[in-house]
Amino acid sequence: MDGRARVVVVDFGGQYAHLIARRIRELGFYAEVVPYDTLKPEDVSSAGAIVLSGGPSSVLEEGAPRLNPSLLELALREDKPVLGICYGHQLLATALGGAVGKGAKGEYGSATLEVLTEDPLFSGTPRIQRVWMSHRDYVDTLPPGSLVLARTEDCGIAAFKLAGARVYGVQFHPEVKHTEYGARILENFLMGVARLEPSWRPEDAVKSVIERVRAAYNGGNILVAASGGVDSTTAAYIVKLAVGHEPIHLVVIDTGLLREGEAERAVGTLKSLGFKHVHLLDAAREFLSALKGVVDPEEKRRVIARVYFEVLERRARELSAVYGEFRYLVQGTIYPDRIESGRAGRGSDRIKSHHNVTLPEKLGLELIEPLADFYKDEVRKVAISLGLPEELVYQHPFPGPGLAVRVVGEVTEEKLKVVRKATKIVEEELRKAGLYRSLWQAFPVLLPVKTTGVKGDARSYEYAIALRAVVSEDAMTAEFAKLPWEVLEKIASRIVNEVENVNRVLYDLTNKPPATIEYE
Ligand code: XMP
Repeated sequence: MDGRARVVVVDFGGQYAHLIARRIRELGFYAEVVPYDTLKPEDVSSAGAIVLSGGPSSVLEEGAPRLNPSLLELALREDKPVLGICYGHQLLATALGGAVGKGAKGEYGSATLEVLTEDPLFSGTPRIQRVWMSHRDYVDTLPPGSLVLARTEDCGIAAFKLAGARVYGVQFHPEVKHTEYGARILENFLMGVARLEPSWRPEDAVKSVIERVRAAYNGGNILVAASGGVDSTTAAYIVKLAVGHEPIHLVVIDTGLLREGEAERAVGTLKSLGFKHVHLLDAAREFLSALKGVVDPEEKRRVIARVYFEVLERRARELSAVYGEFRYLVQGTIYPDRIESGRAGRGSDRIKSHHNVTLPEKLGLELIEPLADFYKDEVRKVAISLGLPEELVYQHPFPGPGLAVRVVGEVTEEKLKVVRKATKIVEEELRKAGLYRSLWQAFPVLLPVKTTGVKGDARSYEYAIALRAVVSEDAMTAEFAKLPWEVLEKIASRIVNEVENVNRVLYDLTNKPPATIEYE
C-alpha cells in the first residue's frame, strides 16, 4: 500500500497473525497478513520484513503447515529480515537445520526471560523481563551457525539468531500485552534490524485510498448498502470525497431486525453528512415472513442475506429506471471481515458467514471496498480524521443480521419487541454510567427458555434474557466486561420491570474463545 515498505506477516493459523499485524501497525509500520500456503516469491521480494506467526499446529506432526523452503532460501539470499514467533520460531529452527522436541509439560502464561547476550533485538530492555509463553514443543537443537540470545527456566532456546543474517526466532509472544517489552522488541526488529522507518498512519493512508477510488471511477451511479454504522458510513464518505455526492445512492433497508428508531436515525445521520440521495426502504414484513420457522443460526444468516440481496437488487432496478445505470456497489468491508468469512487467511476456519461479505458479488456491480485493508480501530481513526461525528464513530458494532442473531431460536415479532426494548435499556444505562465507550459491545440476548418467577405476588412463567458485555480490541478475541454490580443491577431491574414477558436476567461470564460474542 502506498509504495511504502510492507511487513509481511505469514499466517500459520489461529488468530495470532492478526494480532501481530495490528501491533506492527500500531508501531507505525504497514503490515499485511498472507496465508502460508499462498505466499509468493513477490511477497518475499517486496517485503521490508517478514514475520512468521504462531499457530495451533505442531511442527512434529505430519501435514503441519510449513514454509516453502524455496521462499526461505529467497529471503536469505535477498537478506530479508525474518522473525519467527512461537510456531514460526520452531519452523524456522527446523528449516535451518535445527531440531524441535516435545516438551514434557509445556509452558503457558507468564515466564521470566533472561537475555544472555547483547543484541539489537533486545536493545533498551532489561536482562530479566516478563514474557508470555504458550507452547509445548520447543527448539532443542540450534540450527548450525546460530546463537542463543535468551532463555527461560523451562526453555533453553527462548530466542536465537542466525549469525551473519537478519534472521531471528523467539519462542515467546512479543505481540501479547503481557509480554512486558513486546512492543519494544517488535520495534527493535523493525527499526534496529530491518531498518524500516515508521510511516504508516491510517489517517494518511486514506488519502491514497481516495485517490485510488477517484482513478478507478468511470462514471455511472454508485449504490451503497448503508446501515448507519461506522464502516459503511465511512466507506461511503470516502467515495463521496473521491467522486462527489451526485452519483451516490444510499439505500437503508429496514429489515425489521434493527434497534428502536435505528433506520430513521441512519437516514438522518447520512443526510447530515451531505449525502443527497438517501433512500429508506421498509422491508420488515418480507424478512419476518422469510424467517418464519427458521431456527438454525447459519440458516438465519443465509435467509437474511438472500432477502437482503433480493430487496437491494429490486431497489437498484427501480432507482436505475429513474436515475440511470448503476455500475458500482460500495461496501464497508474491513480487514477482519475478510478473514472471519474465510475470504483470506486460510489458517482460520470459517466461523460465521457475515452476510456483508458474501452478499454483493452476485449483483453484477463493480465492488468498491475502501476500508478492506483497515482494522476497526484504524477505521475509527480515519473517520475522526475525516470529521465524522464521534457519536457515530464510537458506537458499538451491530451485526448485519441484527437482532435476529440475538433471539436464540425462531425469530418472531413478539420476541423482537422484547429484545429491542431491552437493548434500549442496556444502551441507556451504560451511557448513563459513562461505560459505553469502554466496551466493545454490550447487548441483551433473548434465550429460548422460560423460567418461574414472582411478579406482584403472582407466579410468572416468562423469558430469560442474557446480558452480554465484552471488551475487545478487534472482536477476534474478547473478554467479558467486569461491569460494576450496581450497573448490572440497574439494568436487570429495569429489564424485568419494563419489558413484558421477561422475569430473569443472566450475566454472561464467558470470554471469546471459547464463546463467540454473539449467541448465534
Ligand atoms: P462473533 O459473534 O463471531 O462476532 O464473536 C464477532 C464480531 O462480528 C459481529 N458479527 C457479525 N457482523 N454479520 C455482521 O455484520 C454477522 O453475521 C455477524 N456475526 C457476528 C459481532 O457483532 C462482533 O462484533
